[in-house]
Formats: sequence, C-alpha cells, structure tokens
Amino acid sequence: MSEARSLPAALRLGVNVDHVATVRNARGGGHPDPVRAAHLAIEAGADGITAHLREDRRHIRDDDIARLKAEITRPLNFEMAATPEMLAIALKTVPHACCLVPEKREERTTEGGLDVVGAGSFLERCIGELKAAGIRVSLFIEPDRAPIEAAAKLGADIVELHTGTYCEYALANDWQRVEHEVQRLRRGAREAHAAGLEVHAGHGLTYNTVGEVARFPEVAELNIGHFLIGEAILIGLRPAIERMIRLMREARAS
Ligand code: PXP
Repeated sequence: MSEARSLPAALRLGVNVDHVATVRNARGGGHPDPVRAAHLAIEAGADGITAHLREDRRHIRDDDIARLKAEITRPLNFEMAATPEMLAIALKTVPHACCLVPEKREERTTEGGLDVVGAGSFLERCIGELKAAGIRVSLFIEPDRAPIEAAAKLGADIVELHTGTYCEYALANDWQRVEHEVQRLRRGAREAHAAGLEVHAGHGLTYNTVGEVARFPEVAELNIGHFLIGEAILIGLRPAIERMIRLMREARAS
C-alpha cells in the first residue's frame, strides 16, 4: 500500500466544456467557442477545465486542446483514450493532468470505467510516459476494490470514480439502487484514499446528485460537464457554476 495521504483541504470543481463544442459543431464555424466558455467558467469559480478529445473529434478538436493549454489560467485536465495517437498529443500538449477513459466509437458518452484490471501493456506504457513528462495521471474507473487496487499498482496519481450509475438511478427515482450506489461510491472513495490515490468523481452529476458525492471527505475534485452546459443555455454559465459550487460547499460542510 502507498503512503497515507491527508484528506483534501477543499473540494474543487472541474468544468468540462465538451458540449460547448458540440453546439458549435452542429453548425460549423467557431461559435460558441469552448475556450471562451473555459475563461468564463474560471471567472465564475471553476478550479480547472476538462476537455475530452475523442478519436472521432465529435466535440473537442485538436486546436481546442492547444488553445486551452495556451490560454487558460487554471489546470487543464485532458481526457483521452489510451491510444498511441492520444498519447502523442498529450505529450506534445503537456496538460496539468490526463484522465484516461475507455472510449467506444458508437457510445453517446463514456460508458463504464476503464478496464484497469485486465489492462494491457500499452496502458502501463501510457501512464509511465505521461508521468515522466510531468503530467498527473488519472484513471476513470468504477468505484470497486479491484480497479482501485489495480490503479494504485499501475502507478496512477488519481482515480476518478464513475458516478454515472448512481446518477442514472437517481434520474429514474430508484432510491433503493441510489442508496446502494452511494454506499459503493463512499466505500470506493475511502479505499482509493487509503491506497494513497487522490480521489476525483464525475459523470452525470446535477444539482440534485452532487451533494451525496461532495459530502465524501476523501473526494478532492468533481468533474461536471453536460448538466452545467445545459443549464448555461437556460440560465447562463456563471449562475449555473455558482449554484453548483454553492451546493458542493454546503454538502462538504454538512
Ligand atoms: N468525468 C469523465 C471521466 C467523463 O468522461 C465525463 C464525460 O465526458 C465527465 C466526467 C463529465 O460527465 P458529464 O458531462 O455527464 O457531467
């Protein structure tokens, strides 16, 4: 087991700007610009910006990543599949962190966590090369003991616990399963922290679901995208982010 890490002093919010690019790409051209959204998110209180460059470039494009890295004043978390192409882009960009995620061409969004238990040697190589370049490495995993232990063994700095199943059950008002998933996430956060990993969480979080996860003292960062960008269309990016931060702080303090 790795050396003990202290509990995070505060809970950070990473804002994922992928879906600003989704709207832009619906019409071509440059509007709305995800980099401008990133600047506005930071002004509204975001602690970092996340962007996922997918193999098919369906939202974020190579140029967005380069501009985000060059322009933003808070850490860039570059989400990517562990492929030779993405590894080369990450090593060229040198973001603050890389979050390695599974990626299937036909999925609408990232489904399930990374298969770290059955990981091939390329994942290991990817983690090694990113770390050697001074990039923090995060693995997006299911909140279960086996992937947590495997992530620690692989030398990851961070695990991001997948909150998607919890959020889906909450959307379906299936409170029994919600409770089960909250327990699973709570246990996962404790185990990952005890294994010396920094703990992040994300996927599908909304105003209604953020509190349960924000409450876990081991969690250092939440990454939230789709809901915030959707709210931004309705009420504006700043009020949406400010409300999310308020809910995170209230939950953490309670
Ligand atoms: N974390 C990871 C690793 C993700 O892949 C995503 C989706 O891109 C998110 C967080 C954010 O999920 P959402 O857009 O549902 O808030």
